[in-house]
Amino acid sequence: MTSDPFYKDHWINIDRDRLDRYQRMFQWNPDSSILYEPADIGPGHIVGDFGSGPGHTAIEIATWVGADGHVHALDINSGFVSQTIDNAVAAGVSNNVSAHQCDGSTLPLPDGSLDRLTTRNTLIYVDNAEYTICEFRRVLRTGGKVHAIEGDWPMMIVEPVSNKTWSTLVDAASHACRTPDIGRKLYGLMMLAGFSDIMFRSLPDPILMEDCCP
Ligand SMILES: C[S@@+](CC[C@H](N)C(=O)[O-])C[C@H]1O[C@@H](n2cnc3c(N)ncnc32)[C@H](O)[C@@H]1O
Repeated sequence: MTSDPFYKDHWINIDRDRLDRYQRMFQWNPDSSILYEPADIGPGHIVGDFGSGPGHTAIEIATWVGADGHVHALDINSGFVSQTIDNAVAAGVSNNVSAHQCDGSTLPLPDGSLDRLTTRNTLIYVDNAEYTICEFRRVLRTGGKVHAIEGDWPMMIVEPVSNKTWSTLVDAASHACRTPDIGRKLYGLMMLAGFSDIMFRSLPDPILMEDCCP
């Protein structure tokens, strides 16, 4: 029995089949590189990837930071942490990737220890996004950068579903996320955490059914 809310519990407790399916779903897609360009990650950087799943993004980032850099993969799920370690060994980057289990309330990293922190489709699930973003700021060095990529479910348009029906569906599914409209909140949350030079981009990104259900 667990007392965690569903939006958290469904990531903590993942059965073996679903874990393997996520392992395939969260493979690194080279088309994603463009999304990470503003993070400006380069050789020698120490990078955190929060909500790293089975570690494929962290492993790709390890190839960008090279032998002098390091990537800390951070995820709430212990199975993903183990998969990350195995995947890093298989990819030949185990010396440059560490995996940690955490839920975003505190990050298991010292103050000012990162040059960059990336996160994708994860702040939507944390208990308190304001608090987690303050943690991002704590672990980044002065001049470091956080790069967050998140969606905004109520803002989505799904063809051929009507806006009203979509809104009903989002409301019905909202218990699976903590903050379904996190996308529109990011700028304000970064300001509240004390970040400066905040750049916000809204990307109208068409997603086809076959991309979601390969
Ligand atoms: C939708 S997946 C995104 C995975 C990866 N960032 C990507 O884009 O391929 C969300 C990830 O966040 C993790 N996660 C969910 N809630 C979390 C929390 N409170 N703290 C840390 N990780 C969390 C999940 O275990 C999962 O790996």
